[in-house]
Amino acid sequence: MAKTKRRYVCQECGSVSHRWQGQCADCGQWNTLVEDVPATVFSQKHDLSSGGRAVAFEPLNAPTKLPVRKSTGLAEFDRALGGGLVPGSAVLLGGDPGIGKSTLLLQCAATIARGGNDVVYVSGEEAAGQVRLRASRMGVADAPIRLASETSVRDILTTLGQGEPPAMLVIDSIQTMHSDTIEGAPGTVSQVRGCALELIRYAKESGCALVLVGHVTKDGTIAGPRVLEHMVDVVMSFEGERSHQYRILRALKNRFGAVDEIGVFAMATEGLEEVANPSLLFLSGRETPLAGSAVFPALEGTRPVLVEIQALIVRLQSGATPRRAVVGWDSGRLAMLLAVLESRCGLNFSSAEVYLNIAGGYRLTDPAADLAVAAALVSALADRPLPDKTAWFGEVSLAGEIRPVAHAPLRLREAAKLGFARCYGPAGGANTERGADYRGLAALANVVDQVIGNA
Ligand code: TYD
Ligand code: MG
Repeated sequence: MAKTKRRYVCQECGSVSHRWQGQCADCGQWNTLVEDVPATVFSQKHDLSSGGRAVAFEPLNAPTKLPVRKSTGLAEFDRALGGGLVPGSAVLLGGDPGIGKSTLLLQCAATIARGGNDVVYVSGEEAAGQVRLRASRMGVADAPIRLASETSVRDILTTLGQGEPPAMLVIDSIQTMHSDTIEGAPGTVSQVRGCALELIRYAKESGCALVLVGHVTKDGTIAGPRVLEHMVDVVMSFEGERSHQYRILRALKNRFGAVDEIGVFAMATEGLEEVANPSLLFLSGRETPLAGSAVFPALEGTRPVLVEIQALIVRLQSGATPRRAVVGWDSGRLAMLLAVLESRCGLNFSSAEVYLNIAGGYRLTDPAADLAVAAALVSALADRPLPDKTAWFGEVSLAGEIRPVAHAPLRLREAAKLGFARCYGPAGGANTERGADYRGLAALANVVDQVIGNA
């Protein structure tokens, strides 16, 4: 009898290897390889070219009913979804612990239930009492949600199979679910994959909208196999600083809509509030623009994030050596920019202390930040604010030119979405379609003109 080949699956990244190793060759995590027993072992000799049913092919333009989307009751959530929940679809919502995933879903489950729909909320993490406490704190305790604290997928699907399917099914979280047909503890790759597969099959067959909560690992990917992201129709991520009030809901994958839509929320004491005008988020505390502040559309991986760069210049009276302090950016790069501003633009920083801070605790590594930092420095030095509602990006060379950077259209679009009407960047071809109004600058000296000229 032929020996079935052993395979080992990394519990962190889902990569497969045929040999056990202490460290995963793909993601570098230690002790994460676990032997995976394939559910079905197909015989190699079996011939698949006969004995099947005929497949009925259809033309691409055959009449189709467009899915009727169900509003989540939160316009920002609907926007990120591309117009609401699609019946029979599966949404995976990822995010750091404590960021507000359960709060968001309870809130939208309550709204959908109040609209006369059947909603089932299964929490594998919290007891029913805890969920109820949260609901009453959010003022939604009266919503007719069917609530259960349960982790067995068999129990959940058996119960749901006995009645009419709900309009919405929330599973919080997929890592706590357990299937008795699969070996292993909840949260392992095979359990997560198996449970998700069963739940998604139920959603597709019954037409209920399924929302799965997914935990996020240290590096920001949804824990468990990447295959989970392939199985669902929509992958969303809920992001923000836990110590800050604001949260951004972002679609990373969407079979029914665009992925560059975001929804913005603020975490209040009674749950999440929608932020209809997100540019307020960055303008809050400065109705009048301040000198020394520049907005930079940064990219984190492939994701655009707007950050505020703050510069402060203090003129020294005595001949003491001036301080240069940087939080969140490379101090070597700041020294370089100051040198370029001095030698190419004739500005004088030599007797001034320079402080640079990236707001919100961000650490910038994107080289495109140069131009925004330079703009903030020039603005601080001149004590004149930059033009209102503008964002800046571009790399600065030692010759003082502004060099092109990657993903200019993405930066422009994110800036426009968050209310920044104009972007200054490298001269020459940026696709301004659907983005902010674009102004190309050839050299750093033009920044000085902009600041002095627009004051
Ligand atoms: P939660 O939804 O439990 O996060 P997740 O499910 O993503 O782990 O959110 C928990 C945090 O949100 C918690 O630290 C308290 C805070 N919170 C509020 O500030 N206001 C509220 O109304 C609620 C329900 C939670
Ligand atoms: Mg939770």
